[in-house]
Amino acid sequence: MTVESIQTVAVIGLGTMGHGIAQAFAQAKFQVRCFDSIATVSHSLHQRVRGNLHQMVDAGAIHQEDVQATLDRIVVCQSEASAVDNVQFVTEAIAEDLLAKQELFLRLEALTSPGTIVASNSSMFPISQSAGELKAADRAILTHWFNPPYIIPVVEVVPGKKTAESTTDITCQLLRTIGKHPVRIHQEIPGFLVNRVQIAMLREVWDLLEQGVASAEDIDEAIRGSMGLRLASLGPLQISDFAGLDICCKVYEQLITELRSDTQLHSILQERIDRGEYGTKTGRGIYTYTPESIEHQQAQRDQCYLALIQALSHQNKES
Ligand SMILES: NC(=O)c1ccc[n+]([C@@H]2O[C@H](COP(=O)([O-])OP(=O)(O)OC[C@H]3O[C@@H](n4cnc5c(N)ncnc54)[C@H](O)[C@@H]3O)[C@@H](O)[C@H]2O)c1
Repeated sequence: MTVESIQTVAVIGLGTMGHGIAQAFAQAKFQVRCFDSIATVSHSLHQRVRGNLHQMVDAGAIHQEDVQATLDRIVVCQSEASAVDNVQFVTEAIAEDLLAKQELFLRLEALTSPGTIVASNSSMFPISQSAGELKAADRAILTHWFNPPYIIPVVEVVPGKKTAESTTDITCQLLRTIGKHPVRIHQEIPGFLVNRVQIAMLREVWDLLEQGVASAEDIDEAIRGSMGLRLASLGPLQISDFAGLDICCKVYEQLITELRSDTQLHSILQERIDRGEYGTKTGRGIYTYTPESIEHQQAQRDQCYLALIQALSHQNKES
């Protein structure tokens, strides 16, 4: 198979990530066949994608006439079998449940033709764990997208022990075709690359909040306006070079024993989880939200990400 032979892709699981992955492929003019085991989730797919696309129109990232054309390329299917019929690339974005993913990959192996690439969007489980037992494990791969997937450019690509080199190459080419930046990860370590760094940061951030070192608002503002701004332009390794490795090492040696290092979940998080406060999806998390404030903040977030991508594309062209 070549990347040019991929015309139709399937997305299984249409929640936070799946609907946005479907949108990303449809915006790049692929036909996208979709399935979710919950009917109401499937029914709301076009409405959710339409909302995202309108925000992109408002941000000047796409034209109004692209909206309906993109929606027309997305087909909601009544069954998993119908969704993956005659497609050349499938990605799952179902819940983070290893057994459910393993069972799904076994079904996908039986339902798809030998050339079809089957991908997982798991944040944690390597493809060798979720699809390693397939006879067709050579065409299974992990592609880890970031939220919102129709905007964030990087996708981590993590081949398993049995993944064919051609599967990895075609997957990276496919992602480039749709405007993404695939980053190939060479080892199947838990959390891959980005989530390891993110969780290391969150452990300290949650600890600072728990200790009352600053308010939630001030913690977010401090990180956003310093590290956050720099990281949009330079990677952490290059930032260390600009700061001076000698200085970084001195600060590291002084600070490292002071940082949170245990593996206990922070009580301020556990209490919220116990109360069912999961963030925007329940209206309350670290902050409190109304449906209107979520819609407003999500629109602002997407517009800000799009403007940053636009600004950074100039920087990337110049460097
Ligand atoms: N949320 C994120 O920021 C994020 C980022 C990167 C990766 N991921 C990973 O992506 C996957 C999906 O995460 P999410 O946040 O979109 O979850 P979600 O709960 O929002 O959506 C999952 C969807 O899958 C559906 N589903 C569950 N089992 C199914 C099955 N067998 N067949 C069809 N549909 C099924 C559910 O009905 C639900 O709509 C997870 O593996 C997660 O770890 C999430």
